[in-house]
Amino acid sequence: MCGIVGYVGKKQATPILLDALKRLEYRGYDSAGVAVLTDNGIEIHKTEGKISDLEAILPDIKGLCGIGHTRWATQGAPTTLNAHPHVSGNIAVVHNGIIENYQELYDELKGEGYEFVSETDTEVLAHLIHRYYKGNLVDAVIEGLKKVKGTYAAAFLCGDSEQMVAARKDSPLVAGLGKGENFVASDVTALLKYTRNVVYMHDFEIVSLSGENIQFFDFDGNPVKEHIESIEWNIEAAEKSGYPHFMLKEINEQVTSVHDTMMGRISELTGDVLLGEVKLPREEIRKLERIVIIACGTSYNAGLLGKYVFEALAGIHTDVDISSEFRYANPVLEDSTLVISISQSGETADTIAATKEAKTYGCRTLSITNVVGTTLSREVENIVYTRAGPEIGVAATKTFTSQLIALYLLAIHFARIRKKLDVDRSKRLLVSLKQLPGMIQQILNNKELIRKQAIRFSTARDYFFLGRSLNFPIALEGALKLKEISYIHAEGYAAGELKHGPLALISKDTPVVALATRASTYDKMLNNIKEVKARAAPVLAIAGMDDTEIEKYVDAVIRVPVTDELLYPVLISVVVQLLAYYTADALGCSIDKPRNLAKSVTVE
Ligand code: M6R
Repeated sequence: MCGIVGYVGKKQATPILLDALKRLEYRGYDSAGVAVLTDNGIEIHKTEGKISDLEAILPDIKGLCGIGHTRWATQGAPTTLNAHPHVSGNIAVVHNGIIENYQELYDELKGEGYEFVSETDTEVLAHLIHRYYKGNLVDAVIEGLKKVKGTYAAAFLCGDSEQMVAARKDSPLVAGLGKGENFVASDVTALLKYTRNVVYMHDFEIVSLSGENIQFFDFDGNPVKEHIESIEWNIEAAEKSGYPHFMLKEINEQVTSVHDTMMGRISELTGDVLLGEVKLPREEIRKLERIVIIACGTSYNAGLLGKYVFEALAGIHTDVDISSEFRYANPVLEDSTLVISISQSGETADTIAATKEAKTYGCRTLSITNVVGTTLSREVENIVYTRAGPEIGVAATKTFTSQLIALYLLAIHFARIRKKLDVDRSKRLLVSLKQLPGMIQQILNNKELIRKQAIRFSTARDYFFLGRSLNFPIALEGALKLKEISYIHAEGYAAGELKHGPLALISKDTPVVALATRASTYDKMLNNIKEVKARAAPVLAIAGMDDTEIEKYVDAVIRVPVTDELLYPVLISVVVQLLAYYTADALGCSIDKPRNLAKSVTVE
């Protein structure tokens, strides 16, 4: 999730690009750059760091047309060399997205003599468009992008004329229409100071902009008539894409983030998971005797799901530990153990220290993280990036579901190598994984029902979340989300454990959220629901759409689409996040910045 901008008109481009980039800094902030068309051709300046760092190194550039970028690294470390724009001859490009067939295009272009100077996937775009450029930038962009698999919002500049071309597929891109000037940006926020007339571009659409003209085309080069919208939002609302809170925006973004975590990593044809970044030799994966997962908070809850999937799919004994416990616990580790540290930020002090501790035992190390180039990523041998994009809300939402997806992918990958998962089952699982984004959208379409239930129970002092097996970690996560942002005391419990103590707390005043999707433990779950109903607790069940039985036993049901038994945790997560969000909203809490909490805990 990077931010791109472009300007062409009668004013100096650089100050406008900088100002617009500052508005997009929430999308990424590890490096930045601009390319401006001057009398001497395209001038490029870029640096690692924030937009203010870029501003500090910029000379006075004279030029009326330019593109800019603020980066959130996905491929290649956050360095000046990897910062955008990237160039090939007289073509410059800024890009937000992921080029899935990067390696194939890289080999092809390298074979033709193109020199690569960065580690980014974006550089292939610059060379591709250069390869096809014969005097018409729109034609070159169409030809080039037809070869690309993946996602992009990209803007291109050519040294030959004061024209900018931009295109999108699966990454946001908006064109802004001014008087004698035109713009593109990842997000309207960047444009509101200059114009309120915008066009939200569609996939496989190209826009060509000069100061006086703006034209849209499809990928066959046919002109497309676009609908111009007038934006009424103020800047603060626009930063959240019109959502009242970042958390709600990020919950909604899971349709895309879950897809992005899987993108390019699944081969439905062979039933294999493609995780080139995992450099562990296949022989070592076959011989792995144990996995130890270390993490904190929400990442720890993801780790608990990891235990189920590594054991169920790959047959590897897995332990999960809280980082702050692990580091002082004299752990027993062998060199045949793989230690997986999970951290959204990659900067959690306890997880970093626990990883360092694990390394002293000679274990193999792997990290699942969302941020490129962090302290944690420098400590481990293997990294699986979750690619969820920056998360602003303190409560982790989209990064959690992306961690779950990364764990499923790793477990399937290991299971295939260890011959524990046959091709047919693996293919079925991968197909089901790919269906999850659409199913998340279905849940989001139904959020009004979840809001009503949240309001109904928002005056409760205590809340319980019950789940069994794979749903148990999500019961913990549901309780954590609710505590964190609504300040209601909540407990997540393995449903079978309730009668060993906590049942004493159940009464008509303690709402119980029962995670009751179909699984081998479903009947047991129904029994646990009956136990709490017998103590007069109001029960809200989260169940599959195919379940006709559950409503007999509970007060209300929130439905999720039917999926593979292993994958329900992803769908249930979205429901419990919404439940927590709407509860906190009803109580008027500070949702994005809950009291006493920080997004990244960099102290012990
Ligand atoms: O960045 P990390 O994943 O290492 O952070 C771990 C926890 O601090 C974090 O998950 C925290 O529990 C969240 N605020 C939960 O929403």
